[in-house]
Amino acid sequence: MADNGAPAAGKLWGGRFTGGLDPIMTQYNESIYFDRAFYSQDIRGSIAYARANQKNKILTEHEFAEIERGLKLVLKEWQDGKFIIQPGVDEDIHTANERRLGEIIGKEIAGKLHTGRSRNDQVATDMRLWLRDQLDQLEEYLVDFLKVISSRAEKEIEYVMPGYTHLQRAQPIRWSHWMLMYGSFFASDLQRLREVKKRVNQCPLGCGALAGNPFNIDRDAIAKELGFDGLIMNSMAGVADRDFVVETMQWGSMLMMHMSRWAEDLIIYSSGEFSFIKLADAYSTGSSLMPQKKNPDSLELLRGKSGRAFGHMAGLMMSIKGIPSTYNKDLQESVEPLLDHVKTVGDSLQIATGVLSTLAVESESMVKSLTPDMLATDLADYLVRKGVPFRETHHTSGQVVALAEKEKLPMDKLSFAQLQGVDKRFEKDVMGVFDYQKSVEMRSAKGGTSKSAVMEQIAAVKKALAGQ
Ligand code: ARG
Repeated sequence: MADNGAPAAGKLWGGRFTGGLDPIMTQYNESIYFDRAFYSQDIRGSIAYARANQKNKILTEHEFAEIERGLKLVLKEWQDGKFIIQPGVDEDIHTANERRLGEIIGKEIAGKLHTGRSRNDQVATDMRLWLRDQLDQLEEYLVDFLKVISSRAEKEIEYVMPGYTHLQRAQPIRWSHWMLMYGSFFASDLQRLREVKKRVNQCPLGCGALAGNPFNIDRDAIAKELGFDGLIMNSMAGVADRDFVVETMQWGSMLMMHMSRWAEDLIIYSSGEFSFIKLADAYSTGSSLMPQKKNPDSLELLRGKSGRAFGHMAGLMMSIKGIPSTYNKDLQESVEPLLDHVKTVGDSLQIATGVLSTLAVESESMVKSLTPDMLATDLADYLVRKGVPFRETHHTSGQVVALAEKEKLPMDKLSFAQLQGVDKRFEKDVMGVFDYQKSVEMRSAKGGTSKSAVMEQIAAVKKALAGQ
């Protein structure tokens, strides 16, 4: 830690103070070790800002050319891993880049770069530029994941499995129908992401510290050069706003919530008791003690990391809610959670895609887990088709369930006579009810589990992918 000042003589609170910053304060304050992630955005923004200041006559043509040349050399140093951070001096990425620029082109000219600008509009610009690219990447990952969901759903549409409510066997469904339930969630996440991106990609540069730019800088030209969709139209809002970070993390938290439920289902389905799916070795690990074990670590981490993503979101909202208007240093606390959140969501999407594209479906175990009592609703529906009110048929079917339990027989092994004993309106064709394929095919209304309805759902996911 650099000692950057003379000892503060006679200070009551002790000789540790040097007249400069408390060394711990220097460390506490500096953000360079994480906001260095924005090095290229910081340089891009500075070049655009300098260009606008040349048009303004704040910089001569030569001065701008020097600044641009120098900044590109700084960029190259970062890219080549040759930028040397000066501990205790380079507080953040903005001061570090400017310090190095001064060393390369001389302080005379470098000292003009920051005219009319503040680190307040600078950091907000860097973060938005960075996040915009990251969200493009996350969109690609999410699209890939949805593509695996829809193509698997198409290929494996014949597999029938138990569907659950309350984690109790409820009705037969297609495995594809289960996959597309999450397809529906994740397609909404994709729509939301596309919305969030619009608000992230707004330019705060030229807002200054808070009150605006005194040299009539052309903010539209800056925004255009940097590829922003528009401007933050209130300079105080421009520097105060971390809503774009919060909103990103709200989006990511919702996505991770879906991911966590998806993972939880698959963890259950991969257990020995269910054996509906088998994870590929690439996404499982063994136990250090029990040789027989294959653990679904990938899915457990997806479930676990959702808590972390949510925590970052909630934490930042707490940090922001009480601060007074415009920039306060509290806002620096938005950077680390954002970096971690974006990495967590991106990694998770890639892992989920890998898990889903490599897992094996044990369709025979799925079928074996179907039990005739799951067709009790179909039995009630049978009588509905004979004109009996559903409230009555629900009761009748319940009596059949009870009879089967009493006789210790599966429902479909009761005799026709036994069924008639419960209700005379059962006819010979009632035995046809006990057919799982027929049961799923009956649910052909939009959104249901019949083949045609599931195909429609696949088409809906594909439409969402295309942004329709
Ligand atoms: N490193 C700071 C941040 O991330 C940059 C802004 C500092 N501005 C200031 N006025 N101290 O928020």
